[in-house]
Amino acid sequence: MINYAALVHQVAGLCRETGEWIADQAMLFNREQVEYKGRNDLVSYVDKEAERRLLHGLSRLLPQARFLSEESNAQTQVAQGAYWIVDPLDGTTNFVHAVPVYAISVALMVDGELKLGVVYEINRKECFCAYEGGGAYLNDTPLRCHTHTPLSASLIATGFPYYDFGLTAYYLRILERFMKNTHGVRRLGAAAVDLAYVAAGRFEGFFEYNLQAWDVAAGSLIVKEAGGCLCEFTGGNNYIFGRSIIAAAHPSLLNEMLEQIQPVWEEALASQNKA
Ligand code: IPD
Ligand code: CA
Ligand code: CA
Repeated sequence: MINYAALVHQVAGLCRETGEWIADQAMLFNREQVEYKGRNDLVSYVDKEAERRLLHGLSRLLPQARFLSEESNAQTQVAQGAYWIVDPLDGTTNFVHAVPVYAISVALMVDGELKLGVVYEINRKECFCAYEGGGAYLNDTPLRCHTHTPLSASLIATGFPYYDFGLTAYYLRILERFMKNTHGVRRLGAAAVDLAYVAAGRFEGFFEYNLQAWDVAAGSLIVKEAGGCLCEFTGGNNYIFGRSIIAAAHPSLLNEMLEQIQPVWEEALASQNKA
């Protein structure tokens, strides 16, 4: 039996340690050190070495677990068994441009269920963590999402498409709906941080498409354990691997968000099927 309460503390310690190393590199980093994995898809030695350190530490904590990690074990699904789902640096573009919003994201999934999640926002030294059934915490403080705010009074985070522009027109229609029906829309540039901020009640909601499991796994569990709820743009439950996610502080806000997103998204998917 794995003691998740103890394990989440050990994972948080490893993330803090690796986060300090990343913060040190930020002082020395220059943009010449960037490589491109694809259009607008940046990576550097910092992402790779942070991942090496995390995987080394995590494999000591749970030797039987496998990895789904952005820089060396990228996959779109996992089999049965235990998997660490790791984004060593979420917000690489921010890091490269010295915008101080980036984080480490580590989750543990066992037989398809999320068991623990840690999002460590490096520059604010904020460690958001949760384990299944154990509630969510920011450092040592318990987190609760805001419980009653309607969409009209909500601050909502999103992420803009930056490499696959095929559905941009539909995304912009959705964005316009949120601009007109909320307190405002933010784009921080780090999906794990967006989700952690929903758990912390800073944002009431978050939506984005084209994300990967390593962007959302840890943050999703933290939202859930803080009392929030999640679904795909279609209303389905496969928001870890399904490439679209809506997170909300409470179920009626999730419904309101879905009402804004789903009809436009169904048109978007239909247009893809026609093409
Ligand atoms: C990115 C960030 C960003 C989101 C992108 C992600 P990365 O992760 O989470 O907010 O909009 O889709 O790829 O590449 O910085 O780890
Ligand atoms: Ca990421
Ligand atoms: Ca990353």
